Amino acid sequence: MIIEQPTTTVARVFPDGFLWGAATASYQIEGAVTEDGRTASIWDTFSHTPGRVVGGDTGDVACDHYHRYADDVAMMSKLGLSAYRFSIAWPRVQPGGRGPANQAGLDFYRRLVDELLDHDIQPWVTLYHWDLPQELEDAGGWPVRDTAYRFAEYASIVHAALGDKVHHWITLNEPWCSAFLGYGNGHHAPGRTDGADALAATHHLLLGHGLATQAIKAADPSAQVGITLNLHSLAAHSDSPADLDALRRIDGVGNRVFLDPLFKAEYPADVAADVAHLTDLGFIHAGDLETIATPADFMGVNYYTRSIVAAPVPGSGNHDGTWPGSEDTTFLKRGLPVTQMDWEIDAAGLTDLLNRITRDYGAIPLYITENGAAYPDEIGADGTVSDPARIDYYDQHLRACLDSIGAGVPLRGYFAWSLMDNFEWAWGYEKRFGLVHVDYQTQVRTPKNSALWYSNVIRDNAV
Ligand code: FCB
Repeated sequence: MIIEQPTTTVARVFPDGFLWGAATASYQIEGAVTEDGRTASIWDTFSHTPGRVVGGDTGDVACDHYHRYADDVAMMSKLGLSAYRFSIAWPRVQPGGRGPANQAGLDFYRRLVDELLDHDIQPWVTLYHWDLPQELEDAGGWPVRDTAYRFAEYASIVHAALGDKVHHWITLNEPWCSAFLGYGNGHHAPGRTDGADALAATHHLLLGHGLATQAIKAADPSAQVGITLNLHSLAAHSDSPADLDALRRIDGVGNRVFLDPLFKAEYPADVAADVAHLTDLGFIHAGDLETIATPADFMGVNYYTRSIVAAPVPGSGNHDGTWPGSEDTTFLKRGLPVTQMDWEIDAAGLTDLLNRITRDYGAIPLYITENGAAYPDEIGADGTVSDPARIDYYDQHLRACLDSIGAGVPLRGYFAWSLMDNFEWAWGYEKRFGLVHVDYQTQVRTPKNSALWYSNVIRDNAV
């Protein structure tokens, strides 16, 4: 069983040196999708395909951060952030995903990094937050082995351009989403639906992570390199054998299929058995697992909610490719308060998850690289944005972090998702996750009350 009770520590102050940041991703904020040599990514293609994104929204303009980055960094500085996690758009710096770098694209990120450093904000670079060059998808995408090598080459290009100033590198953001939403159920770009492809994509994403880690470390052994996973905090609906088996399966293909290769250089045997009718795992070559398990310096954890897993109900309608091999598994709601995403709020699920990682995989330094909540925020008559529910969400989850720290988890920092409202993937602009409100007509930024609250948390190093 993976479930633990939250500890009861009453600590309210964070350890000295705890890192405070906020996060974004390139396609969600940059816009300027055809400027300075950028070519299309799978998300450009996907968002321009009718029916894929709510309201037909695209990232064409988004928050126009490409042009407004200096003002945005000034805003971060006012909030008191010590770190900013952002991602690089692969098709901006290596159009088409192969061949030479595009200097104009690299120059944009160099300007951004300089601006951050001028404001004493540490840049944390995510190399892949889902914008695969469309040409690489046309050549087969992540289910194809070559994509892992292309990714490592691209990582080297970015590191060569920014490595003198950037010391924290996240290879991949949430490879579970890239594989299982991108190639399994098709809710994300590129929108393909094949369980075996999703499993091959999983392996090639992990291989790409290992190869990129080795490339960056070879160029600079002092670089800090890690991966960000959206691990699933899970609980079984009951102790019945059927519910516990469902929990084992979802934990397998949602969590252990990433954690075991990364930290133990092996794939879980039970997952291999669960998916045996879909694939013989022939895409795993000799030496791959050693590459994937190249020691990382830290791991990023993204957390939003906990899921309650129950026995499969054949024909329940869940058979959509999200969980290859365990398609009919049921997920239950408990009637807890939800955010605008309809995700139940369960801060103890974060404590349980962090404690479990440390217990089962050892004391690798952890960072929360995303955590936050969407609400339908509006600017009030007085010009402010009142978002008490978001403040409450952050407060509860930061206390959950303190509970884990009190239990001995080496949690070193926290990045709120997100710095500002942005393009929430298949949900378009309707879901607002920002600490800062964005008016998409005028591009005016208005810090929400939660941003002011978060500034105080940072200043006090405490909740
Ligand atoms: C995560 C993504 C991030 C954002 C949040 C709400 O899965 O990494 O880009 O969309 O969800």
